[in-house]
Amino acid sequence: MKVFIAFAGPRLKGNTAQLMNAFIDGMKSQKPDAEYIDGKVYQKKINYCRGCEMCKTTTGVCVQHDEMFDMYDEIFDSDVLIMAAPTYWFNISGQLKVFLDRLYGMKAGGMRNKALVYITTFGDVDEYASGAHNAVNSIKEISEYLSVPYCAVYASTGMGGVSKAALEKAYKQGAELAKSIKK
Ligand SMILES: Cc1cc2nc3c(=O)[nH]c(=O)nc-3n(C[C@H](O)[C@H](O)[C@H](O)COP(=O)(O)O)c2cc1C
Repeated sequence: MKVFIAFAGPRLKGNTAQLMNAFIDGMKSQKPDAEYIDGKVYQKKINYCRGCEMCKTTTGVCVQHDEMFDMYDEIFDSDVLIMAAPTYWFNISGQLKVFLDRLYGMKAGGMRNKALVYITTFGDVDEYASGAHNAVNSIKEISEYLSVPYCAVYASTGMGGVSKAALEKAYKQGAELAKSIKK
């Protein structure tokens, strides 16, 4: 099993990173020998999708040879794509959205061969008022469109950081997902 980790938050030890690490620890509890690739998306320079459609009509892959392009092969080969970022303005953060848009330019089939995971934290105590569900549902719709498995992991930080219960739940979700991948 190969797991590509796209952490797109600005705070490497922040709330979202903590929740994501609990999820990954859960995965590792079941699949310690799997390949876990930190794409270091948070420090990459990723251009916006240009919407030129060259990837679909002519070249088969994005024409922008930037740091996103360099990640395509590893993302393509992965069985699980973890996308993690804090909730910003009731939705996916800008950093993650740019990454997500550029997945469109990966060579054909790369999004239909993997499980998607979206991990987020939010400041509001209420998960609906926080807007986190807008992002959770966006990625859910992508997974339905692609007919691939989807796992959403989210937690409020409004009571002073990510709770122990949320970390434990994320760990369990990670373990369950890893078990469900037969590789
Ligand atoms: C630009 C910005 C926008 C935010 N928008 C929301 C929001 O819409 N809803 C919410 O509940 N929290 C919002 N927050 C709070 C963060 O989602 C929350 O503090 C999160 O846990 C931060 O994660 P991090 O520690 O990984 O950076 C926002 C924070 C920032 C910096």
